[in-house]
Amino acid sequence: LFAAQSDFLKGVVAMSGLPPADRIEVCFAGRSNVGKSTLINALTGRKGLARASNTPGRTQEINFFTIGDAHYLVDLPGYGYANAPLPVVEKWQKLLKQYLSGRQTLRRAFVLIDARHGVKAVDEEIMSLLDSSAVTFQVVLTKTDKVKEKDREKVLAQVRDKLSKHPAAYPELVLTSSEKGDGIATLRAIIAGLE
Ligand code: GTP
Ligand code: MG
Repeated sequence: LFAAQSDFLKGVVAMSGLPPADRIEVCFAGRSNVGKSTLINALTGRKGLARASNTPGRTQEINFFTIGDAHYLVDLPGYGYANAPLPVVEKWQKLLKQYLSGRQTLRRAFVLIDARHGVKAVDEEIMSLLDSSAVTFQVVLTKTDKVKEKDREKVLAQVRDKLSKHPAAYPELVLTSSEKGDGIATLRAIIAGLE
């Protein structure tokens, strides 16, 4: 699948702007700065396809990318913090929630968790929303290159404990480093295997 052409399709600021629900769709949700856009670049092998930056709140629209002719990858604005005026932030958060609870063809939400920080209260809010919308979600740990082997287990245990309380959670975690490329092939295979 990922050998196929990947392209930016459009940025969406309202539900009415969503492209036709005619492809297999996966999205990437997570706190601001967790590495969503960078992960999409690593998956597609195209640096700069999704705009990434060290400033939280970089992605301010719902960005659709096409892979081949049957898949959408969706880069979402971050939640939990944004360096933007409150009314603007509230607008994205509302759109984010509408999208996560109302997109028919959304096959899986990947919820990105920073491997240094584990699951925070805002992540659990999103997980609960996905539970009530019956959207299967899978946790992807990001930035594993920044965590020492011995600290990793503690975070993994915390994440697994939190997930056990969410019925929509897919039990298997994916450990990634967009920097080193770890877990990227695994995640590609998971997405390619969705129907
Ligand atoms: P928003 O769009 O603001 O919600 O952020 P985002 O989740 O899209 O994060 P983004 O991809 O822009 O990455 C934020 C920062 O983390 C950038 O400086 C990235 O280079 C860095 N980063 C992302 N993934 C990794 C990783 O696996 N390892 C390391 N070391 N840094 C990473
Ligand atoms: Mg982003």
